[in-house]
Order: sequence, then C-alpha cells, then structure tokens
Amino acid sequence: MSVGAPKLSGILGVFFVKFYTREGNFDLVGNNFPVFFIRDGMKFPDMVHALKPNPKSHIQENWRILDFFSHHPESLHMFTFLFDDIGIPQDYRHMDGSGVNTYTLINKAGKAHYVKFHWRPTCGVKSLLEDEAIRVGGSNHSHATQDLYDSIAAGNYPEWKLFIQIIDPDHEDKFDFDPLDVTKTWPEDILPLMPVGRMVLNKNVDNFFAENEQLAFCPGVIVPGVYYSDDKLLQTRVFSYSDTQRHRLGPNYLLLPANAPKCAHHNNHHEGFMNFMHRDEEVNYFPSRFDPVRHAETYPIPPNICRGKREKCIIEKENNFKQPGERYRSFTPERQDRFIQRWVEALSDPRVTHEIRSIWVSYWSQADKSLGQKLATRLNVRPSI
Ligand SMILES: *[C@@H]1O[C@H](CO)[C@@H](O)[C@H](O)[C@H]1NC(C)=O
Repeated sequence: MSVGAPKLSGILGVFFVKFYTREGNFDLVGNNFPVFFIRDGMKFPDMVHALKPNPKSHIQENWRILDFFSHHPESLHMFTFLFDDIGIPQDYRHMDGSGVNTYTLINKAGKAHYVKFHWRPTCGVKSLLEDEAIRVGGSNHSHATQDLYDSIAAGNYPEWKLFIQIIDPDHEDKFDFDPLDVTKTWPEDILPLMPVGRMVLNKNVDNFFAENEQLAFCPGVIVPGVYYSDDKLLQTRVFSYSDTQRHRLGPNYLLLPANAPKCAHHNNHHEGFMNFMHRDEEVNYFPSRFDPVRHAETYPIPPNICRGKREKCIIEKENNFKQPGERYRSFTPERQDRFIQRWVEALSDPRVTHEIRSIWVSYWSQADKSLGQKLATRLNVRPSI
C-alpha cells in the first residue's frame, strides 16, 4: 500500500509491524515519516480521495492535492518530509519507520507514559533524487522488492533498531505543541530516543498472497501494557482499520494464519462468512458457568478523567508553522533549493489557481520568511504576509 508518485515529489510508504506476542498480537501501524498530513480522523476519507487519482481521468494530479491541503496548514510539516530528498526512499531497507501516533505504555504499577515508536535502519537512510528515481524506477519497476528479497535470500539481513520517546502525561501541557497532535514531532534534544529493541528480517515469505497480501493490521490491536492515547487521529484509526479488513478480507479475517495470534487464545465470537474454525461447544456466550473461558488476568489501564464540554473544535495549540520552518532551516542550502524546486513545479501546475498558489506561499512564509520570499519570486506571486 502506498500513495504518491515521482510527480508528487514523494512517496508515503506504510511501515506496519505485527508482533506475535505471548499475550496476543500488537500491530504497530505507521509509515516512513514521523508525522501525518491531518490531525482529525474525520478528514481521512477526503484526504485519501484527494491523494488518489482524479475520478474522471484516473490520473493522480497535483492540483487536487494542493487544493485539498490548502485548507489544512497542519499538513505543512508532513510536506517537509514528502517534498524533501527523503521523499523517495532508495528501497525498503534504507527507510525509517515510525509508529506516527502517540500510544501509552503502562508499567506493572499502573503508571502510564505517552510514547512514540521509531524504527531506524542500521544500514542508514538512503534516498533517490528525481533523475535517479526516474532511471531506477523506469528501468526496473520492482527494484525495491527485489532488493529486499535478494538481501534476505543472501543472508544480508535488513535490520532496524526500535527506539521510543516518552512523555509523562502530567507534563502534557508543558510544551508549545500538543504532544497528542500527530502533525508534530517530539524534539529529540529534550525527549531523547531510547533504544528498546531491534527487528531483523531473516526469512522471506514463501507465499506472498497468504503471508503478505492477506495480512491485516489495525492500530486498535494491542496487548497488555500498551494502550491508546487521546491522539485524535489514533482514535479514529482504532476503529476504521478493522472495518476495512472486515470489508476487504471478510469478518473472519483474524482466523487467517497470518493474522491469528500464535498463542492460546479464545473468545466466543464466531460464525459469519467463511468461518473455517470448527467448534463443537454448546456455549457461545460469555460468561458462563459451563464454559472454561475465564477473564484474563486484569491489567491496569490509565485512568482518564475528562471534564468539560465534548465539542468539535480546533485544538488549542495548533502551532502549524514552527516545526516545518525548523525542519526547512535544518537542510543544507542545496537541499533547500531542491525542496523549493519541487514546490515550484507542483504549484506551477496550470490548474493550481492563483488563489491556491498564494495560500501556499503564505503558509510557507509563515514557516520561514525567506522560503516564502523565494517561492513568491519564482512563482511570481505577491507574498500575502
Ligand atoms: C533491479 O534492481 C535490483 C535491486 O536493486 C537489482 O538487483 C537488479 O539487478 C536490477 N535489475 C535490472 C535489470 O536493472
């Protein structure tokens, strides 16, 4: 699954990992960038429509994407990844992964910490610039898959280290950004990456369809010790992914070997289309004194005290421009020039109206004044601020 094309100056690659633990499965369902375009899950379907091909021509077009996101300045940070050099990974081995959303980890005593997960490839991150991407992708359509398959087959196992960043929920309000806002990164200088594990891909799948195509992920699939947070995008992803899997693979998709937990597991949900679990019990409800199924050992989940009105509104600390500006300024001058060039090309699309072009120039000016000025000059737009 991926969206994006060289014409869009970047590729959003999903980075999903399924942990088959002794207590059931934990799905870490993220992508190759640490942030996301939007923070409100209600906008997810429209965002996907804008990124997908034009429904009339079936061509993916920048004007539709830039039109939609011109309403969403919170997307700027994500675009500093997508339109950056790292927007086109060299292959799957040289790519970061990120859990993207904020989760909660709870220790035995019940103490909760907000956490972000990060995968870092031990062979480093490598990207393709446009001319390389056109050459490599143009002559060798499956190059990234072949690179991964061949590396594993040759015993040159791809490896990622897993890091976490943590925030004490009591400190949630201490920052100039909202730590549960998925359009923000947590600055590594104050919230350092802590190593907690590694992943080695030491075996290729034998059957791509059974072990890859039919894999189903959902951020709602967690194990004791891991919990969600009030990250608003996570809250919708927790539901929407399983709905998709039931539609895509059928209601019994969790029975498929790739998706079933590898530990003893039992619940009394069954039947529906394509149920291939043969059971002969007479009790299919819970609890029952005739049934040996018992509650699992209880584990603490963080208490959540909510006071106030439940309403649909914009978050208090939007802070849409600071982190994108900082990221842009961290690039070398050559990298900044390539970033500008990609924006000039995208905004030069004749179907991007003058209004949309001005809005983007204004957004980038608010992130970084000189970036806005350079875009304004190149595009012949008057900066609006
Ligand atoms: C395609 O890419 C793979 C992975 O980099 C490489 O091993 C292979 O030689 C390439 N094939 C061609 C025809 O360029």
